[in-house]
Amino acid sequence: MADLDALKTKYLDGIAAASDEAALEELRLAALGKKGEISLMMRELGKMTPEERTSTGAALNRLKDDIDTALRAAKTAMADAALNARLATEWLDVTLPGRPLRQGSIHPVSQVMEEVTAIFADMGFAVAEGPQVESDWFNFDALNIPPEHPARQEHDTFFMNRAEGDDRPPHVLRTHTSPVQIRSMTEQGAPIRVIAPGRVYRMDMDQTHTPMFHQIEGLAIGKDISMANLKWVLEEFFTAFFGIKVKTRFRASHFPFTEPSAEVDIQCSWIDGQLRIGEGDGWMEVLGSGMVHPKVLKAAGVDPEEYQGFAFGMGIDRLAMLKYGIPDLRAFFESDLRWLRHYGFAALDMPTVHGGLNK
Ligand code: PHE
Repeated sequence: MADLDALKTKYLDGIAAASDEAALEELRLAALGKKGEISLMMRELGKMTPEERTSTGAALNRLKDDIDTALRAAKTAMADAALNARLATEWLDVTLPGRPLRQGSIHPVSQVMEEVTAIFADMGFAVAEGPQVESDWFNFDALNIPPEHPARQEHDTFFMNRAEGDDRPPHVLRTHTSPVQIRSMTEQGAPIRVIAPGRVYRMDMDQTHTPMFHQIEGLAIGKDISMANLKWVLEEFFTAFFGIKVKTRFRASHFPFTEPSAEVDIQCSWIDGQLRIGEGDGWMEVLGSGMVHPKVLKAAGVDPEEYQGFAFGMGIDRLAMLKYGIPDLRAFFESDLRWLRHYGFAALDMPTVHGGLNK
């Protein structure tokens, strides 16, 4: 069986020298494929005598097994080598620190709105909302500011464009949150206790004014609500908001939609350019307020013979500046990332009435 030994050597050498799987496959077909050398020899067995067949058959089977085993071993070795090569180039250092993700922050105005809302919610006020594009009836007329009233000019109003022939009522960008008083009384009737935070617009721009700013409206209507309740609610609010006892001062004022009306100052001191709330003998104006005018109640469908109550409106941006020591109002709306990172709040810095909210 010299030729079987030669065959064995030929194939095993070939397998040892094969450089890839395709070469191995070629060798497999040449030896063991349907028309492979060894397969063809197997077919010749039928023509042999039984003795020859037994010995040659066994030898051929051994040869077939040897080649098969060598092929498998070579294939496995190639796969291992390929995997090792891949591992060597694609390795990942899992001990490296991750890439930091930049987190956004809560804008001081949003934060203060949440804080203010939480404090008033604790006193039984629900949150109400109204549109920023408002009809001039809600923004002015219903609030006892008729068309010829000088307050319309004082409000530096942005008017919405109306095409010629458009018969929809005139609309404005609301100049204050007071129209939400009318909307919520119309919808819910009396008694009612709501606050309405939101954006308002006036044509004004300097260091302390921006054309868009934020107000929060308060409204409490019942059968026997008085100015005394207003004063208590506001002092309670400022004390909770600033975290120290804050005195208020009511100054007689005028708003068309309240009678009597008062502007409210909070106690503060100015020492060496440092503003401190709740101490000293200075005063800072923070809001307008008063007893809701009977005409306003009537316009919202509430009977002024039966109900009365107070309303107030204050600037949220101003409150944020005072509480968090932010010097320039305009920076609030410039979207400067450095400013936002410095003055912004973490997302889960939830306001609580008694918890410290200072960063
Ligand atoms: N709407 C008034 C303003 O923008 C504030 C105010 C609200 C005054 C409610 C009295 C009552 O100045």
